[in-house]
Order: sequence, then structure tokens, then C-alpha cells
Amino acid sequence: MKSTVELHERAPLPLVIAHRGARGHAPENTLTSAELGHKVGADLWELDVNYTKDYRLVVVHDDTLVRTTNVEEVYPGRSSYRVCDFTLEELSRLDAGSWYEGRDQFGRVAAGEIDADTLASFKGLRIPTLEEALLLTKRFDWYVNVEIKNHEHLIGHDTVTKDVLEMIRRLDMADQIIISSFQHRYLEECRALCPEMATGALVETTRPEDPVALCRKLGVNAYHPDRLILAPGDLENLRDAGFAVNVWTVNDMDEAKDLVAHGASGIITDFPAACRSALGRG
Ligand code: G3P
Ligand code: MG
Repeated sequence: MKSTVELHERAPLPLVIAHRGARGHAPENTLTSAELGHKVGADLWELDVNYTKDYRLVVVHDDTLVRTTNVEEVYPGRSSYRVCDFTLEELSRLDAGSWYEGRDQFGRVAAGEIDADTLASFKGLRIPTLEEALLLTKRFDWYVNVEIKNHEHLIGHDTVTKDVLEMIRRLDMADQIIISSFQHRYLEECRALCPEMATGALVETTRPEDPVALCRKLGVNAYHPDRLILAPGDLENLRDAGFAVNVWTVNDMDEAKDLVAHGASGIITDFPAACRSALGRG
């Protein structure tokens, strides 16, 4: 099996990366959305890591649990619904799948693309721990982009990278993972603590003045830009300088093709099946 570093250097490009799993057709950041991403042939999946109150690593995107669970029903009147204000045991009582049927943001339920049995199977899904998510990836001999959310104003800013890396090492999965973060300090910590690990610099809102210089400074393998902040020439310059470029979140498949034609090495998408097909990968 190739390592994630090799995958970004030498795989038959482009990589299709299932954003929060196959999020267009299943509740994001669940083992079910990951399984769907695998089933449709994504090369990797992407997940978001947060800490619970008792410093357990869990897979949730937002700071709070409101959008993707039934937390307000299960814990009415709590003063905070932030992930970091709940213990892992408290999180285990939440349903992270039922919300999808009524609030599927891409309208795939209304479009009839998800059958009744599949919808029923979403009910009662749990928030995965990072360990469960990694073990699923391992069982599939698969790859995952672990995005460490920015904990600067939450608990665990000083420990989150170390804890993520310790888990990856314990599971012997460094070769199957690329770590990314908007908090670039975590990437530098990664480089120091686990030099063999592939890393990607996430950027959004403002384009760095010199993306190549940023990647060199951080010692990352890849640049992970929001599609909205790519400037003409960025893809070519970064690839010429030896960096992979995985662009997010690309759901328009003509755009995906265009990005790949200009050198993107990976497409992070909510619709991995459509992306694979658009890119001639299956
Ligand atoms: O890793 C790419 C993308 O997931 C970054 O943004 O907010 O979707 O986690 P977000
Ligand atoms: Mg993410």
C-alpha cells in the first residue's frame, strides 16, 4: 500500500476526496458517510476533529452540536451546546443521523435520490470517535484527511496535535493519513513530532501572498485552498514547486475538471461518485 505522501506524489492523479464522507448523500462525519465514500471509490475521505469536555477526540465539524444532532431535544435548556462542553458519554446519547432527512442541504432527499430504507438507516447514527473513524479507514485499507479544527479559543489548543498523533501512531496508521488544519501551528507541530506524516495547509478567505513560500515555511506536502481564493497561476506554481494541491469544496464537476486540467492534484467534494465519473476515474 502506498503511503499518503506517495499518494500525493505519484498516484494516478487526480485524487477524489470525500468531504466529511460522501456528505451529499449521507449525514456528514458519520461512519455511514465514510462507508459511502469508500463504496463509490473515493481515494480518501475527509473528517473534522474536535475535543469533548473530557478531552476525547470526536468527529464533528461545527463548534456546537446543534446543526448535526438532536442535542436540543436530548439536553433541553443547556447553557451551551458546544462539543467541548459535553463529555463523550453525553455525546453517545445523541442521534447524528436523523436531522438529515429534514435538513439535507443539497436537496437530495427531495430529489428522490435516497431511498426509504437508506433514510431509515440514518436514524440513530452516532458521532464517531476519531479512533472509530480511523479503525474504519484501516479496515478498508483506505486513506483519510484528518482536519484538526482550530482549538485556539477552546480547550486543548496545546494538546490536540499531540493527542491526534499519538492515536495515529498507536494504530500504526501514519501512512494512511494526511493531516490538515487552518491552524498552521498544528502543522508545524506535526512536522516536528511526526516527520513522516503527510500534511496539508488549509487556507480560506484571504489568499496568502505567496502560497509556495507558505508551504515551504510550514514544511507541508500539500496546499488545501478554498476554491474561492485560488489565483491564476497558483496551481501551476505550487505543482512546479513540488506541492500537491487539494482544492475544496468543489461540487460543480465542470469546475473540478478545469481545476484538474490546471494541475490540481485532488478535489475535495461532497459528491465523490459524480466527481470520479467527471474526472474519468470510473
Ligand atoms: O478540509 C477541507 C474543508 O473541510 C475545510 O473546511 O469547514 O469544510 O472543514 P470545512
Ligand atoms: Mg473539514
